Amino acid sequence: MSNGCRMRLGCCMPWPSEIRTAFPDQRSTGPAVEVIIQSNAEDGCVLGAKIIAKTVREKPDAVLGLATGRTPERLYRELVRMHREEGLDFSRVTTFNLDEYVGLPPEHRQSYRYFMNEHLFRHINIDLANTHVPAGTAQDLQAECRDYEERITAAGGIDVQLLGLGRNGHIGFNEPTGSLRSRTWIKILSEQTLNDNAAVFGDRDAMPRHAVTMGIGTIMEARQVVLLAFGPAKVRAVMEMIEGPLSAICPGSALQAHPRAIVVLDEASAAGLRYASHYRWVDQNKLAWQRYD
Ligand code: F6R
Repeated sequence: MSNGCRMRLGCCMPWPSEIRTAFPDQRSTGPAVEVIIQSNAEDGCVLGAKIIAKTVREKPDAVLGLATGRTPERLYRELVRMHREEGLDFSRVTTFNLDEYVGLPPEHRQSYRYFMNEHLFRHINIDLANTHVPAGTAQDLQAECRDYEERITAAGGIDVQLLGLGRNGHIGFNEPTGSLRSRTWIKILSEQTLNDNAAVFGDRDAMPRHAVTMGIGTIMEARQVVLLAFGPAKVRAVMEMIEGPLSAICPGSALQAHPRAIVVLDEASAAGLRYASHYRWVDQNKLAWQRYD
């Protein structure tokens, strides 16, 4: 299917049956990915924080899906600022993180639980009992995966899911070729991901090779998805995610079938997009209620 075809399809026709079958809970006839290009990562993170804050203001007991990594650090600083200076209230909010390294306990400095405590949770008025990160040290990891899914369902599902994008197109730790219908599961990290994240561990051999991650099917059930991708290293993944075919080779491309997926980019990560001027045009001509800032 050509890009032009896919865009028209997203605008005015139901999704083809194979996509509806892959994502049976989605009944979208809406646009595909909403692309917003900001001049830099700073502005992109501030916009991402506004989208999340809007959800929390409209629904004080919102369920947030959260991500770790370098990309959202500035976004979390902005949420902390909004809490301190604008009274953004997290007291009734519940969170579910995307993923955790297998074998790392919560107090390990490279664990994602540690990351979340340091970058967000200990600076806001959230009840830690309402914050969920998969347990990478669970004795029975498969039971942990099933339990994580059940906890998300019991919380009423995720209102807004924050995502980053791997250089290989992964979302969560769903590496290329993983099933588009996957649920929370154990993934073997790709060599590229090991190389990309090794610096944080000091040495690639010190880095776990497995992670517990929400599946793509789990992510697709979030009512809204906000993906951030910044910098030249993400150009290729961004192109494949937004304008390439919907394919397990680029897990992020699954978002093309999501009814409310927003992708926030900076100029550098958007540099390879064929339809960049169209995305800018759409953004400039949004009605007031269609804007997030
Ligand atoms: C993190 C996660 C990953 C990262 C991705 C990008 O919880 O699920 O998908 O979002 O690897 O990482 P950074 O932001 O470090 O480039």
